[in-house]
Amino acid sequence: MASTLNHVAIIMDGNGRWAKEKNMPRTYGHKKGSENLRDLSFYIFDQGIKYLSVYCFSTENFNRPKEEVDFLMNLFVEKFQKEFKEYKKKNIRVVFSGRRENLREDVLEAMDTITEETKQNTRATFNLCLNYGGQYEIVDAIKKIIAEKVDVKNLTPEILNHYLYQDLPPVDFVIRTSGEKRLSNFMLYQSSYAELYFPDVYFPDFDQKEFDKALDVYFHRDRRFGKIEEK
Ligand code: IPE
Ligand code: IPE
Ligand code: MG
Repeated sequence: MASTLNHVAIIMDGNGRWAKEKNMPRTYGHKKGSENLRDLSFYIFDQGIKYLSVYCFSTENFNRPKEEVDFLMNLFVEKFQKEFKEYKKKNIRVVFSGRRENLREDVLEAMDTITEETKQNTRATFNLCLNYGGQYEIVDAIKKIIAEKVDVKNLTPEILNHYLYQDLPPVDFVIRTSGEKRLSNFMLYQSSYAELYFPDVYFPDFDQKEFDKALDVYFHRDRRFGKIEEK
C-alpha cells in the first residue's frame, strides 16, 4: 500500500464537454473549472499535501481558436490578480512552469506578481503549468545545461531535475479528469514512477468528494519501484 503522498499533479480536462452537456459555451466550462481549481487546491493543501501541479494551458493549446485562447488568458489574469492574496494568506508558494514566449505582457505581469507575493511562503507549493510542454521542458533543461557548461560526465537524473522549470520532488500521483487516458505532454520527466488515475468526471465536477475517492485509490496502490512486492 502506498504510504505517502507528497506531490499530486492534475490534468484538468473536460471543461468544454462539461459545458456542452449543459448547452453552454465552452468558455463557461473554463470559468467553472477555474472556480473549482481554487476550492479544490485549498482542500488538497488542507490534506497536508506539499506539492500540487496543475496543467492550465499546454503549448499545444495555442492551436485552439483565438477567441478561446484569449478567453483563457483573460481568465488567468483575472484569477491571479483576484486570488493571490488568498494564497499569500494561506502561506502557499505559487510558481509557474512553462515557456514565457508567446504569453501576453499582462499575463506575464500577473504571473510575476503572484510569484513575487508568495515566494517566501513555506506551507506548500502550487505549481501552475502554463504554456507548458513536457518535451520542451526537457529540451530547455538541456539548453541550460549546455549554456552553463555543466560537467556532463557526472550528470544524474537529480541534477537534470534541477534544470527543469521548477526543481520539484517527483510526482507521486497523476490525475486526469474526463476519462481521457493520456498524458498530453504533461510532466513527462517528473512522472516517471507516478501512479496514474483517470476518473470519469469532467474537471468542473471533480470536487472534494471526488478527490477523497482518488486518495482512496492511491493509498490502495502497491508502489514497488522495481522491487519485489512486500506483503
Ligand atoms: C481543459 O478542458 C482545459 C484546457 C485545456 C485549457 P478542455 O478545454 O480540454 O475541455 P474538453 O476536453 O474539450 O472537454
Ligand atoms: C491537456 O488537455 C491540456 C490541459 C488540460 C491544459 P487537452 O484537452 O488540451 O489535451 P488533448 O488535446 O485532449 O490531448
Ligand atoms: Mg480537453
